[in-house]
Amino acid sequence: MLENLEVLPPDPILGLIAAFAEDSNPHKIDLGVGVYQDDAGRTPVMRAVLDAEARLLATEGSKSYLPPAGESSFNTGMQQLLLGEDCAARYGSRLASIQTPGGCGALRIGAEVIHRSNPATRVWVSDPTWPNHMPLLGSAGLALETYPYYDFEGHQLDFEAMVARLQQVQAGEVVLLHGCCHNPSGADLNLEQWQAVTDLALERGFTPFVDVAYQGLGAGLEADAAGWRYMAERVPEMLIASSCSKNFGLYRERTGALVLLAETEQAAAAGRSQALSAARQSYSMPPSHGALVAGMILQDGKLRESWQGELEQMRGRIVQMREAVVEQLGSDFAFIREEFGMFSFLGINHAQVQRLREEYGIYMVDSTRINLAGLNANNLDYFVTAMRSI
Ligand code: LMR
Repeated sequence: MLENLEVLPPDPILGLIAAFAEDSNPHKIDLGVGVYQDDAGRTPVMRAVLDAEARLLATEGSKSYLPPAGESSFNTGMQQLLLGEDCAARYGSRLASIQTPGGCGALRIGAEVIHRSNPATRVWVSDPTWPNHMPLLGSAGLALETYPYYDFEGHQLDFEAMVARLQQVQAGEVVLLHGCCHNPSGADLNLEQWQAVTDLALERGFTPFVDVAYQGLGAGLEADAAGWRYMAERVPEMLIASSCSKNFGLYRERTGALVLLAETEQAAAAGRSQALSAARQSYSMPPSHGALVAGMILQDGKLRESWQGELEQMRGRIVQMREAVVEQLGSDFAFIREEFGMFSFLGINHAQVQRLREEYGIYMVDSTRINLAGLNANNLDYFVTAMRSI
């Protein structure tokens, strides 16, 4: 049986991890996969995570199964982080959440729920988008369409083109939006643009599905949430997929949440039960460790303060790197300063991407997406020299 299968090429993003590891260039720089690195090029465990883990080690009494919806304190904490402290009062039982294995798990279970509601649903994704969005949603059986998002020539969001296409979306269809720190472009909607997309959702009758993988790494924890919170207050229903990989640094612990905001209490209960059934059919129940840690951090004043402080430092370092790159590479790259989160497109050509990789050991995604957090005071000059020479 297995001999009938073809060997597939490596994943366009995850494949870079192995290629980078194999490169023997001592000056190599990893600007590929979206993982935060500190000024020394390390991806440390956050202080609050270490502290929460120490507490857990002393107190965790069982490794028995979690309930299928996961840790309830985590789910409550994530709802509040995403939709505000007062979300229970605001939305009551219109709101339902389940813990998922990472943001990918949330996207996939969200897609399954959409498919169960109507298998013919079309989902509109931004062009460009995170390359894994298509297989994650598409393999749940949903048809995918794209809406224009980024103007590669002008190095900016093409909001007019986005709106023009979203005006064609039919009632009952779904539009996937990046909550903040658009992956791969870093070009975000401002609040006014979120308001316009909210009006469109109401006018056209589509359901927004918001992917929140970088809350806190763009303009700050609260500021990043302003757009989708505005939308949540107005649309009848909305899905949110959220990840704790980047903002808690819990990548390998596969920690995420799917939040459903439904029009009625009954619809929320139905959506939740379908999500749990979809989970049971694939991974059964989510892993516990990351959610116990993140849940504890969100609920405990001291841990939360420590986490927010460190997250803010991480965000500040990325902003500094954006500034430094523009300062060194000049005004042709000024757009990098205007963008948010870990990523921006460099906008160089394919041959230049190859030369950076082969001659300099500088790794980025083929689309020219770089992870700004891969730059630091020690490798910036090398990066700039390489960029000037290609
Ligand atoms: C990325 O975009 O680099 C990250 O989200 C990691 C991944 O899974 O692709």
